[in-house]
Amino acid sequence: MSGAPVGKVYFIGAGPGDPELITVKGRRLIEEADLILYTDSLVNPEVLRGVKPGARIEKSAGMTLEEILEMMIGAARRGERVARVHTGDPAVFGAVMEQAAELEAAGVPWEIVPGVSSAFAAAAVLGAELTVPEVTQTVILTRAEGRTPVPDGEKLTALARHRCSLALFLSAGLIDRVQEALKAAGWGPEVPVAAVYKATWPDEVIVRSTLGRIAEDMRDAGIRSHAVILAGPALDPGLRRPGGPRSKLYDKTFAHRYRRAVKGPGTAGGEEP
Ligand SMILES: C[S@@+](CC[C@H](N)C(=O)[O-])C[C@H]1O[C@@H](n2cnc3c(N)ncnc32)[C@H](O)[C@@H]1O
Repeated sequence: MSGAPVGKVYFIGAGPGDPELITVKGRRLIEEADLILYTDSLVNPEVLRGVKPGARIEKSAGMTLEEILEMMIGAARRGERVARVHTGDPAVFGAVMEQAAELEAAGVPWEIVPGVSSAFAAAAVLGAELTVPEVTQTVILTRAEGRTPVPDGEKLTALARHRCSLALFLSAGLIDRVQEALKAAGWGPEVPVAAVYKATWPDEVIVRSTLGRIAEDMRDAGIRSHAVILAGPALDPGLRRPGGPRSKLYDKTFAHRYRRAVKGPGTAGGEEP
């Protein structure tokens, strides 16, 4: 490759669907790209508006890893910029590492540009905070075990024993299994569970339910794929009330680097909560 110009591959998070939810950097890189290769199963083609004249747009859902790599490496070796556009954020179930490893071996530079994951888009459309003070301070992003196995120690029942917020990808078709796993972890039938199909798309469907009813409610709504399932006590809409759980962040008695305490003990210095 001596002397030949080498392009670059950008893995770009397209966000969940709403074309306004891609980053400014992601949009610019798509506009500047010579080749745009996008996951047509879940990326909204609206995010590809404004590509430059002559740019090639290819869909990747029907391609194998080898075909994708051949296309990207070929373009980069011609000195082209490649926008490899993934749904949500590439770091979550994005299958990015297997692509990056081969690009690296082929001497092709690459970079990841983050995006809004569907887990956070789903929380947004539900009006939910996943880390509610004194309820849970932890979110687990995972999937139910289906044809793709999960490592030992990451079975859903074991994870659910933390009683934190769970964001489940690729699991809508396995909702019966999810229900059983959470019950086996000791979750009661009234624990809030929600499913958001195609969050932020025009045909988005939101199902707010409970552990006891979620499988039936999702079936009634016809949701079997393309949905994020959020579960856990933080989703309880009853928490959203005046005088409900509050963080220390704006607590007037709690001092931190950016604010003195008005009264009370608080803590001085250090990180804000
Ligand atoms: C291969 S994973 C990709 C996840 C993606 N990287 C992300 O951060 O959202 C595909 C799964 O993500 C979820 N997903 C992606 N986009 C979605 C959306 N707009 N609404 C609901 N779920 C979505 C679904 O669980 C789907 O089965």
